[in-house]
Amino acid sequence: MVPMNRLDELRLRHEAAEQGGGTERRARQHKEGKLSARERIELLLDENSFEELDKLVTHRCRDFGMEEQSVPGDGFVTGYGHIGGRLVYVFAQDFTVLGGSLSEANARKICKIMDLALKTGCPVIGLNDSGGARIQEGVLSLAGYADIFLRNTLSSGVIPQISAIMGPCAGGAVYSPAITDFVFMVDRTSYMFVTGPDVIKTVTHEDVTKEKLGGPMTHNSLSGVGHFIAGDDSDCLRMIRELIGYLPQNNREDAPRRTTADPPGRMDPALDTLVPAESNLPYDMKDVIHRVVDDGEFFEVHEHWARNIVIGFARMDGRSVGIVANQPAFLAGCLDINSSVKGARFVRFCDAFNIPLVTFEDVPGFLPGTEQEFGGIIRHGAKLLYAFAEATVPKVTVITRKAYGGAYCVMGSKHIRTDVNLAWPTAEIAVMGPEGAVNIVYRRELAAAADQDAARAQKVEEFRERFANPFVAAEHGFVDDVIYPRETRPRVIRALRMLENKVDTMPRKKHGNIPL
Ligand code: HXC
Repeated sequence: MVPMNRLDELRLRHEAAEQGGGTERRARQHKEGKLSARERIELLLDENSFEELDKLVTHRCRDFGMEEQSVPGDGFVTGYGHIGGRLVYVFAQDFTVLGGSLSEANARKICKIMDLALKTGCPVIGLNDSGGARIQEGVLSLAGYADIFLRNTLSSGVIPQISAIMGPCAGGAVYSPAITDFVFMVDRTSYMFVTGPDVIKTVTHEDVTKEKLGGPMTHNSLSGVGHFIAGDDSDCLRMIRELIGYLPQNNREDAPRRTTADPPGRMDPALDTLVPAESNLPYDMKDVIHRVVDDGEFFEVHEHWARNIVIGFARMDGRSVGIVANQPAFLAGCLDINSSVKGARFVRFCDAFNIPLVTFEDVPGFLPGTEQEFGGIIRHGAKLLYAFAEATVPKVTVITRKAYGGAYCVMGSKHIRTDVNLAWPTAEIAVMGPEGAVNIVYRRELAAAADQDAARAQKVEEFRERFANPFVAAEHGFVDDVIYPRETRPRVIRALRMLENKVDTMPRKKHGNIPL
């Protein structure tokens, strides 16, 4: 029989772990609008599904009086549980224990669950709220970070990795979330930066607040580091649960299928008139997406960044798809540096995790300008091209309007292994728009014309008739069919069903050399 004092000791150790940094620090955490690490895990996972590991682990630091500051669990809560009945691994940093700082001991805890997740093929979710490397532990803490970075990298493309930033995340600590697939940030309480406002002030003499430097909107609209903004902790955890529902457990599985009451054959006559007659007028591509996918549900990724391209998850016929769509309502849907990078990373995620790609195309080309050229639009645009070309998942493209120039090739064209290419009758597939083309091809003729405007208008009309349509491409088989917009949903679903068992391969190589 176990002696009673051992049972008491066990209870006391559990209690101490659950207390974290104590009542006062927990109250401060709540006052700041943040939940505790354990409360977060409870909201993230299915009820009563959490199994904690390493709850009794303590640090071994004996410098700077640290022997007096030892809490079972060492300020990190790690383990596994379920989301929608599916296994996930989770770690949560407890800011109430030494500022959630990373020690050698709690780095090992994270590595333990990351190793298990890789072996068992399940997602890892990290809830970050930390002052960074535990200063008292010096290089042991840095080593802990590097051990995590290695595992993030090895797990990339094998299991989904999701980071939530729910407090500070500074210094080198940012690089673990940066390697993971999706970064959530919580409004008002989270921030991320490599060097903080004080260091910036010293080095560059710039004055900047924490919020402006690394707050959620900065990273969601300017830097592209953040993929999602949540209103508060519970909103963030709910969004992570929703995202997980679209993803497979690992790169050997398919995403779960969900039953839907939305008929696969549903037509939508409103699509027939959605594209304006005047080809320079904008419309919202998200309307098209919502009308085509199951139940109008679209889980948008990177909503606030590079809004000229729209990416996100939806379901068609109950199956997850990755949507990539030009957005004519923003910058006319041009491809630029940020939209290329945004699209490319998403395409690669979907390809790594067996999620078919559905592309909606209305792109007038690459954004002109010195800013873009000096910034390397050639290199960055190539990323999107490379990602689409490399992807072997089922690929379906629907051209709704413009498919001009190099951007035609890039956005899931037939030539880079897209399986099914459909076009609406409003599609214009050409090297460039009629106005630009006429100005180049007929420059001399127009200069000599008595009435230049009338001559130009006539040539533009001729050009539009001849090239700004989908039929030339259809005659060549570069689009497989020109469809009535209303039948987009059934046609895409049929294509995806046909492609369900698609197998395509890459030449043998260690890895490609994507133009990073
Ligand atoms: C040890 C830390 C700590 C750390 C905070 N604490 N950060 N302890 N190591 N890195 C402790 C504090 O001493 C305090 O303890 C408690 O956590 C809460 O911290 P406060 O400062 O009171 O909280 P707040 O005012 O909210 O400020 C949060 C903060 C600040 C902005 C994060 O604590 C801070 O600047 N911390 C240091 C950040 C930092 O420079 N970290 C190293 C970054 S470099 P008590 O006992 O008073 O409650 C790095 C490299 C990673 O991380 C490299 C990877 C390759």
